[in-house]
Amino acid sequence: MEWLGLAGKVVAVTGGSSGLGEATAASLLAQEARVVALDVNPAATASAVETIHCDVTEASSVHAAFEQIASTYGRLDVLANFAGVNRPGLLVDYYKADASKEASVEQFDLQVAVNQKGPFLCAQAAARMMIAQRSGVIVNVSSEAGAEGSVGQSIYAATKGALNSFTLSWAKEWGRFGIRVVGVAPAINEPTPMGNPEHVAALAATRGMDADSVEADYTTRIPLGRPGRHHEIADLVTYLASDRASYITGTTIAVTGGKSRG
Ligand SMILES: NC(=O)c1ccc[n+]([C@@H]2O[C@H](COP(=O)([O-])OP(=O)(O)OC[C@H]3O[C@@H](n4cnc5c(N)ncnc54)[C@H](O)[C@@H]3O)[C@@H](O)[C@H]2O)c1
Repeated sequence: MEWLGLAGKVVAVTGGSSGLGEATAASLLAQEARVVALDVNPAATASAVETIHCDVTEASSVHAAFEQIASTYGRLDVLANFAGVNRPGLLVDYYKADASKEASVEQFDLQVAVNQKGPFLCAQAAARMMIAQRSGVIVNVSSEAGAEGSVGQSIYAATKGALNSFTLSWAKEWGRFGIRVVGVAPAINEPTPMGNPEHVAALAATRGMDADSVEADYTTRIPLGRPGRHHEIADLVTYLASDRASYITGTTIAVTGGKSRG
């Protein structure tokens, strides 16, 4: 606990009510950080983490949430951008099996709004506080697909590629203020609500496979031979949030069990 020195730090985790964000919020809380989840949904399970209702796609909602953090805690040490959505779809349905499986404008707008505009709005609000403090850490949760591309997930992958690019630029803009910006790119993980059966079936359809085959295919393409565990993402983000990672900025770290080529 002392090695990380996170006790008392104020941390905001978008998407902190579910999946990888929830696991990370719990990990930071265990380090005695003061953790606030920013989410459109409350946590499904009882959690000691305070949740502020925030739609990361709406500037007014983001501003209200960060004003609440400022008035309650007076500072913000860490922002972890976990809120994300993934809607599989082929750009063109070359199987001609079901045109509804093609990527739609609505899917495009939703994924860009949550995965790209959301981190933009939240990082801008956070950096205003962090620049005044002359310190802070922003962690952008990307995906292996952002660097590698992915069949049936081209829009999702593009939003994560944009996020990787934000990480590079924001680290350059804010390094002079002692602010670090780091990306974390998971690949296949033990199930979260995002990787629900409906999602796997939709992704499988884009690959001409059934859901069981797509999951088996995942495992054979992971050199460590298993999906990632939630704590393996949470542990890395917790480390990156700490001063132990004081010289890491402007890069996106893969947490993929060695998998590439999504
Ligand atoms: N699960 C994986 O295998 C995996 C792999 C690679 C990357 N990721 C990334 O990790 C992050 C977390 O994924 P997860 O699997 O835990 O997903 P999840 O669906 O379990 O959690 C996502 C959270 O984001 C919240 N959210 C969605 N829209 C929002 C909005 N407009 N405003 C505020 N909150 C909103 C949801 O309510 C939910 O609590 C995502 O950015 C995802 O792209 C996940």
